[in-house]
Amino acid sequence: SEEQQPYRTAYHFQPPKNWMNDPNGPMYYKGIYHLFYQYNPYAAVWGNISWGHSVSYDLINWILLEYAINPTDPYDINGCWSGSATILPGEKPVILYTGDDFKKHQVQNLAVPKNLSDPLLIEWVKSDHNPLMTPVGDIDPNFFRDPTTAWQGPDRIWRVVVGSQIDGHGMALLYRSKDFINWTRSQDPLHFSLKTGMWECPDFYPLDIKGENGLNSSVQGRATKHVLKASFNDHDYYIIGDYEPQTDSFEPQTDFMDSSFQLRYDYGNFYASKTFYDSSKKRRILWGWILEADSKTDDINKKWSGLQSMPRRILLDKNGKQLIQWPIKEIEKQRAERVNYQNKELKGGSVFEIEGVMAAQADVEVSFDLPNFEEAEFMESQFVDPQLLCSQKNASTRGVIGPFGLLVLASKDLTERTAIFFKIFKGHDKYVALLCSDQSRSSFREEINKTTFGAFIEIDPHRENISLRTLIDHSIVESFGDEGRACITARVYPELAIGEEAHLYAFNYGSQSVTITSLSAWSMKAAQIAPIQKRRRPP
Ligand code: FRU
Repeated sequence: SEEQQPYRTAYHFQPPKNWMNDPNGPMYYKGIYHLFYQYNPYAAVWGNISWGHSVSYDLINWILLEYAINPTDPYDINGCWSGSATILPGEKPVILYTGDDFKKHQVQNLAVPKNLSDPLLIEWVKSDHNPLMTPVGDIDPNFFRDPTTAWQGPDRIWRVVVGSQIDGHGMALLYRSKDFINWTRSQDPLHFSLKTGMWECPDFYPLDIKGENGLNSSVQGRATKHVLKASFNDHDYYIIGDYEPQTDSFEPQTDFMDSSFQLRYDYGNFYASKTFYDSSKKRRILWGWILEADSKTDDINKKWSGLQSMPRRILLDKNGKQLIQWPIKEIEKQRAERVNYQNKELKGGSVFEIEGVMAAQADVEVSFDLPNFEEAEFMESQFVDPQLLCSQKNASTRGVIGPFGLLVLASKDLTERTAIFFKIFKGHDKYVALLCSDQSRSSFREEINKTTFGAFIEIDPHRENISLRTLIDHSIVESFGDEGRACITARVYPELAIGEEAHLYAFNYGSQSVTITSLSAWSMKAAQIAPIQKRRRPP
């Protein structure tokens, strides 16, 4: 019941029990979305990793299927780790995944659907040629995993990258193949960094410079930019640049860990993500693993661990310098009761309750009219870590323009609350909005990681308003600042503010008043996540 399981989500994907980590092999195939995931069939802790498999018509409601890939062979007996799907010509989906083999060496394997006429693709068979790529030469068998979706160059040759670390440096090893079976390692990696360690779950894909449509991974050319994402230091970092398939060179505009300012998909809790191209709606969609922030003992007691983010549509910002993410529009079908406010002034120091929606299960969109920037506090943003700034000056610290924003999963007396807010700063030659997600008072419970998160958004001096959208779902709070220019996801475990006891507020603890231009909040209907009828097995 909800009383025993106050933290289970209602409209975020989640299996009924046990451990889940990375999203794997997402794809759209013949009218159906497939999501696979790293899954432990036996417990709420990491281990025995199999590929869980669920399918959906709308990315919101899911049918849980049998495991697609299980650790049964010498080349994956210690775990079927992360990988990706590629749809080969003739509408033939295949999966490349990492096996932890009988020697605990990481190798890359291929699996294909047993029966292409089954639209659910329930059964997968492993290739007789496995393993296809093995850690030879300078590749450390402990650092060789997570193949991407493959792409084809104009020469029709397939390329794929595999995450690695050689001599302590993170890299995306490049392999080429004509037949998807025989793979040859390229002398040069697609990219590497002297400033990071192991790259987990790399992702590499094109985006249209002008249009809003997503692109198939094999599209190249002058109208595209390529994104390279790598997972390290507990975060998903990305760089944007030009990819040249003739030479397989990738020239990024900025590089990983180059400056204090780092591009990340999400500045909160979000890891090991993967994108796919949705050919039906011509968009690129991102899924990320949202870890628990409670203890391992809590996970064992509640019998589950791990969520997937709301699928997000990815676009290139007009300036070409960063990505924009927005929850897929299908989620709006889950919106039920709505409350709406317009032109509501929030005087300095005020808090007001948004009543009439299920505050534990809601979607909130708000836009604030900003006061004159002349008054903004001074800060040299390039020398400051936004996360540190958010934790030093949290939601309770009064400012000038801000903190203003939302208090979510809050108890009636506000002793428990997660605060998502903006503060505006003036630098020498620019203005920045600081977006914070402050978990420091999210729960009275102990042994919960309540780290506060933060991100900067550059704004020009004529900027008149700034928006925030927050998806609240019992123990996950996903926030999209400035139309998706900065995203922060948090996991919270309130003790009082659960179920019907959760409240939602707007607040302004700055000295300047700000006006809510408009605020809409909706209760969200629960998604259906149901197992498929199981085949009978002998006892
Ligand atoms: C990332 C990761 C991957 C690996 C998988 C194992 O979270 O460590 O590198 O393939 O999880 O479950």
